[in-house]
Amino acid sequence: MADMMWAGRFSKQVDAGVNAFNSSIAFDGRMYRHDIQGSIAHATMLGDCGIITKEDSLEIIGGLKEILADIDARKLELDPNAEDIHMFVEAELTKRLGDVGKRLHTSRSRNDQVAVDLRLYLRDEIAEIQSLVVELVKTIINIAKDHTETVMPGYTHLQRAQPITFAHHLMAYVWMLLRDIERLQDTAKRMNYSPLGCGALAGTTYKTNRQQTAELLGFTAPMQNSLDGVSDRDYCIELNCALSLLMTHLSRFSEEIILWCSWEFKFVELDDAFATGSSIMPQKKNPDVTELIRGKTGRVNGDLMTLLTMMKGLPLAYNKDMQEDKEAIFDAVDNVKLCVRTFTPMLATMRVIKDNMRNAAARGFINATDCADYLVKKGMPFRDAYKITGTLVAKCIEKGVTLETLPIEEYKAMTDNFDSDVYEAISLDTCVRERKSYGGPSPEEVTKQIAEAEEMLASLL
Ligand code: ARG
Repeated sequence: MADMMWAGRFSKQVDAGVNAFNSSIAFDGRMYRHDIQGSIAHATMLGDCGIITKEDSLEIIGGLKEILADIDARKLELDPNAEDIHMFVEAELTKRLGDVGKRLHTSRSRNDQVAVDLRLYLRDEIAEIQSLVVELVKTIINIAKDHTETVMPGYTHLQRAQPITFAHHLMAYVWMLLRDIERLQDTAKRMNYSPLGCGALAGTTYKTNRQQTAELLGFTAPMQNSLDGVSDRDYCIELNCALSLLMTHLSRFSEEIILWCSWEFKFVELDDAFATGSSIMPQKKNPDVTELIRGKTGRVNGDLMTLLTMMKGLPLAYNKDMQEDKEAIFDAVDNVKLCVRTFTPMLATMRVIKDNMRNAAARGFINATDCADYLVKKGMPFRDAYKITGTLVAKCIEKGVTLETLPIEEYKAMTDNFDSDVYEAISLDTCVRERKSYGGPSPEEVTKQIAEAEEMLASLL
């Protein structure tokens, strides 16, 4: 094994097991582009500030660009024995440039370097996740537009409660996802500060220009405290929180799709390309994608717990514990991308079985509130109307009829306020059409809601 970077201080080679245990290149290697991007900014600043010569700075930048091109083209493999991506790039640079390469790490530490890399890397990932969620939102809105008049039961306690439209149900998820996009944007904004130049923990005695490197890397500004700069992982936790919430929304939606696919509901049918069969039961068509999303939500929440627990007792500043941040947040990011990428086309190809939705809404006394409201509109206090309707529902159940088919005499026997126009008032279409309070499910209101959501989406982009 080659000498370690710190060989001067040590009289022995590091134990092979410890070396493997310590190494993070297997998972931080994916940040090579961002590591080189950060090093180019650092070398530029070193040259501009006269900390190294302009010639050395240019040579280093040229070397870094070549390394980047070679890794991109797979001409250069990452060395699995390197301690991490930072050591690997620096060692490769020195291999190529000799002594000049050894000047790159002047007034920098891997502690600020890794923090820069991770912020740059996650900034790109957030942008990608955001555009995936935008696609999902657009897909849901498109389906909603076709179903502003599709009546379905709304549930509380998974019991039929009041009638809604399918568009209204779908739009509930759109608002959740729009908040997710906002949260991602907010996280990206707070993350976008540069730790570069914080050094190991206590800054540096060189006359560096942290504003310049921050600007070169597209950060809003340098972080104001060098200890905070190297030891802050709030951005990982905050991002993971946003991702956990996003997954929670996908998971709730998935759970509903799983229910809707069952023969008990049969509100939707997944396209064959997005369902799976059973190895033994020939009749099965299983919603595996949605179940896996529900399952992966637990995993992303686990990543969040990993990060929170890892950070909770750490003294300032850098501690090696923090190397554990990457696998957790990368796992969260990777799985969220996988989920959204699969969920969107699954939804786009899903068949909606309107008749089954309507039939389910037509049973179960879903119009009982409307029956009580009919009496209220005739002047009766709500509590009295509620009680009379409850008695009528009990009578219907006893006779095996619905409120729509209960004879008018039965109504009138309860109160004179009932007239034959009650049947119109409690018809499913009236019940949905008249729910036009702001944010309500009526076709008219839901159409306005879709327009508002589209406006908000446009303002977020
Ligand atoms: N691989 C390390 C990490 O991910 C980089 C920083 C190492 N710093 C140190 N002082 N050992 O955290």
